[in-house]
Amino acid sequence: MQIALTANGRRFDLDVEARRTLADALRDDCGLTGTHLGCEHGVCGACTVLVDGTAVRSCLMFAVQCDGAQVRTVEGLAGEDGAAHPLQAAFSAEHALQCGFCTPGFLMLAAGALEADPGLAADPDRLRELLTSNLCRCTGYEPIRRAVIAAARAMTPRA
Ligand code: FES
Ligand code: FES
Repeated sequence: MQIALTANGRRFDLDVEARRTLADALRDDCGLTGTHLGCEHGVCGACTVLVDGTAVRSCLMFAVQCDGAQVRTVEGLAGEDGAAHPLQAAFSAEHALQCGFCTPGFLMLAAGALEADPGLAADPDRLRELLTSNLCRCTGYEPIRRAVIAAARAMTPRA
């Protein structure tokens, strides 16, 4: 099937089988390998990207469902000048990664959540619930939690 999607502001015209996942299309057809594949069945969240602003598990979505959609991957987080996104800066400052395999998924999960509701990080229960969505098997969740809180502060305009 012929589809066109926009990823990180760039249009991609793709010829994909109906069964091709968004994750495979992004990685193999668009060359956006920052999106990682772990479980490939919707459990780990490593493949999280934003589709029209909403966090999705790209291993569970078909590429054809994204015809005409705006997709954002971890490659699209940094500013046009190359400056790290507040979440990327905070993950680095708070040591919120070790092997880094889960990191693109956590960054996109948090980016989608904070852009929709910057106040989320101030609510410990909601933040904990958000972060339980994705699996990290080596860093532990406390540095990730601290990083998201720090990024939310940096992203909130001061009065
Ligand atoms: Fe998609 Fe694990 S690779 S949820
Ligand atoms: Fe290794 Fe999360 S940093 S799995």
